[in-house]
Amino acid sequence: MYETEKPVLKVLRGEKPDRTPVWLMRQAGRYLPEYMELRKKAGNFLDLCLTPEWASDITLQPIRRFGLDAAILFADILLVPMALGVKLEFREGEGPVLQPVENENAIDKLLFDNEKTLPVYETIVRVKSELHRNTALIGFCGAPWTVACYMIDGNSKTGFTKAKAWVAEKPALLGKLIATLVGASEIYLNEQIDAGAEALQIFDSWAGLIEGKDFTRWVIEPTRELVNRIKAKHPHIPVIGFPREAANEGYRDYILKTGVDALSIDTAMSLDYAKKQLQPVKPLQGNLNPQILVKGGDTMKNAAAKILNTFGPLHIFNLGHGVVPETPPEHVAELVDFVHNFTFPA
Ligand code: CP3
Repeated sequence: MYETEKPVLKVLRGEKPDRTPVWLMRQAGRYLPEYMELRKKAGNFLDLCLTPEWASDITLQPIRRFGLDAAILFADILLVPMALGVKLEFREGEGPVLQPVENENAIDKLLFDNEKTLPVYETIVRVKSELHRNTALIGFCGAPWTVACYMIDGNSKTGFTKAKAWVAEKPALLGKLIATLVGASEIYLNEQIDAGAEALQIFDSWAGLIEGKDFTRWVIEPTRELVNRIKAKHPHIPVIGFPREAANEGYRDYILKTGVDALSIDTAMSLDYAKKQLQPVKPLQGNLNPQILVKGGDTMKNAAAKILNTFGPLHIFNLGHGVVPETPPEHVAELVDFVHNFTFPA
């Protein structure tokens, strides 16, 4: 219908929008009282994700409050291992806990059961029917490497020592797990597009744990394969990559080789490097420090202005990582208004 008018999609196609669009990673979540209320009612996080009535309402909560330019599906990257048959729990104050995959036998048993993620696609259908015509709907998944990290270690408490040991000692086994994840993510993302997702983001939160040829093999290659497969079916759906905490050269390699349409840069990325070495290749998204959003006020506005002035309007304003629970919602409102009302020096 009016999809071409959506400023987020315009930037992802490489066209200048009238004003810089903005959305925020983890824009739905614990910093919003209306989220906490629903979460209390649901009892646990997984039920929230898998009940379309709740998940669609949560997806829309920050859109109603702040008028952001994109809604991101409310779900989690760990729903893919869940649908592969891995036991998954979110424990209060502890984060996710998965039954670790320990050997080839466990990997052979993994089979993506699309029935388990049907509620996610239903959430997309519901959200889509309620979005304003200028607001884009973003679907997502975790990158194969990051999801493999959680599946091998079972949690993030020890910094993924087992996953790193697999890189060094069990590459064949890791390859098999990664291939399984590429296949599952392909189904999961194609289903999200069929349900109405207009753009996708691939979250590689732990890309920074490996470098050099390991980074090429386990971050770049599986991402390229996944992007290729999605593009084969849906060539016009833009994909944003987020290889968090990859070093400068890692980001540059990633943007040149994976086939993503845009790159989300993390808080640590230097604006100077991003402007000179990355933005000429593909549009960027990012990268205000979430802690500066907690502070708010002039500190926040000055930091936001610096990002806006660095990249100009062919850019999607976002954070360098997700909104943290202690963020005052008023600061988010202030930030969104600031970005929307920003005028670039002539
Ligand atoms: O608003 C949005 O961004 C969309 C929803 C979304 C969630 N998780 C909801 C969520 C998205 C895109 C994610 C991605 C995700 N999930 C990532 C990649 C991005 C990143 O943060 O690096 C990762 C690594 C996960 C796995 C995960 N889920 C962890 C480690 C945790 C616990 C840490 C935490 O913040 O509590 C979660 C739980 C989670 N996912 C919450 C939300 C809103 C908090 C759940 C709650 O306690 O209410």
